[in-house]
Amino acid sequence: MSKVIKGGTIVAADRSYEADVLIEGETIAAIGPDLKGDEVIDAEGALIIPGGIDPHTHFEMPFMGTTTAETWESGTYAAVSGGTTMVVDFVIPGEDGLIAALDEWEERAARQACSDYSFHVSITGWSKKIFEEMETVVGRGVNTFKHFMAYKGALMVNDDEMFASFQRCAALGAIPFVHAENGDLVAAMQQKLMSSGLSGPEAHAYSRPPDVEGEAVNRAITIADAAGVPIYIVHVSCEQAHEAIRRAQHKGIRVYGEPLIQHLTLDESEYSNPDWAHAAQRVMSPPFRDARHQASLWAGLQSGSLHTVATDHAAFTMKQKLLGLNDFTKIPNGTGGVEDRLSMLWTTGVETGRLTPNEFVAVTSTNIAKILNIYPRKGAIVPGADADLVVWDPKTGKTISAANQKSIIDYNVFEGMKVSGLPRYTLSRGDVVWGEGVARAKPGRGKFIARQPFQAVNKALSTWKELTAPRAVTRSPEHMPIGV
Ligand code: URP
Ligand code: ZN
Ligand code: ZN
Ligand code: ZN
Repeated sequence: MSKVIKGGTIVAADRSYEADVLIEGETIAAIGPDLKGDEVIDAEGALIIPGGIDPHTHFEMPFMGTTTAETWESGTYAAVSGGTTMVVDFVIPGEDGLIAALDEWEERAARQACSDYSFHVSITGWSKKIFEEMETVVGRGVNTFKHFMAYKGALMVNDDEMFASFQRCAALGAIPFVHAENGDLVAAMQQKLMSSGLSGPEAHAYSRPPDVEGEAVNRAITIADAAGVPIYIVHVSCEQAHEAIRRAQHKGIRVYGEPLIQHLTLDESEYSNPDWAHAAQRVMSPPFRDARHQASLWAGLQSGSLHTVATDHAAFTMKQKLLGLNDFTKIPNGTGGVEDRLSMLWTTGVETGRLTPNEFVAVTSTNIAKILNIYPRKGAIVPGADADLVVWDPKTGKTISAANQKSIIDYNVFEGMKVSGLPRYTLSRGDVVWGEGVARAKPGRGKFIARQPFQAVNKALSTWKELTAPRAVTRSPEHMPIGV
């Protein structure tokens, strides 16, 4: 059974044009005028875009004494309903190491996911076992490792551990991802705020100001450059972090930057809301910033110094947020967004003229597909690519509300926002998984997408490192001091 998407305008990262798309099985078979297929999918008046890829989710993640409430089933269902056809989730290893954790994540995802998925594996310490297991992880199709510079006493790693892991990434053809905030400083400031009587969610933002993030970004980049490996900074939230990224890029360092849709659209005033619940629901790290920082993030997406828009979907219920009722340091950090990322970015990015439709596609799909080494299988509309496609209707809209969201949790940080641009259909490897407001995706149909190690950039960096490596100067005896 072939399918043809008819009457739409294809919007890719590099151009827009009118054409039909013929799908045979799981892949795109042809693109052109007047194509015929067994089943017709109507794209009249709509755009055809590559399925969104959210490179940053945390489904069923044990964290801060609880577990994110979003399951793989509810999370990927929410994703496809919003036009996202692939998520990349963070594996958090426990005592049993990287492989045991990867197995756990794979089991949960394989059983429940309705979209495709992949993983980043977190490095939360350093040992011979971790060094060895990293190679097995890469062999299993994971070419990215996550490092937390914050969450002291839990996930945080120190500079020497990062340097060791980054060098291992360089050797294996992997890219380090980094949560960049100075964790020692955050922990000290949290204690200081608590002891001066600031225990509400507003103190969360005071405990991790922009400079704490900017310093850590600069440090992470310095370590990556010393290790000779590219680096990806997750949830870039402020000008200080963006400035460190720009400065490094101008020195020739390969740095990728990921702002979140939340940081682009919500600001720090959320934390002074008189309603404790409202403020606590928006506690995440880094915290929301003032509008000056939002302008910097938009400028980064426009100019190309920032590359992807993610969600960091880490969704806790209101009941879970209450764990920090008397102590803001115990409010589980995280917000949702996987369902609304595309329509929020379309509305606040494309509808305002900040981004072109092609730039929208680049930052929601194509750029991350390239960074993750799965392009053009994902992130592109070309013959042979997976038929992960969204018939995007810019003329339909909705008001975001927890009352009718797909996400499992009981609030939405974008509550009440009017968005325009919604998927008329979402296709994942040729299956219509969302159409006309109705879910058609079977849990467990999603596939793990294996990613090959990087060759070009890592190879170039290691060649350059070798060429410019420190060398001992050979001195003959007559050039040596005598009698000392
Ligand atoms: O607050 C956040 N971002 N929670 C999820 C874990 C992380 O830091 O990405
Ligand atoms: Zn993080
Ligand atoms: Zn995260
Ligand atoms: Zn001489």
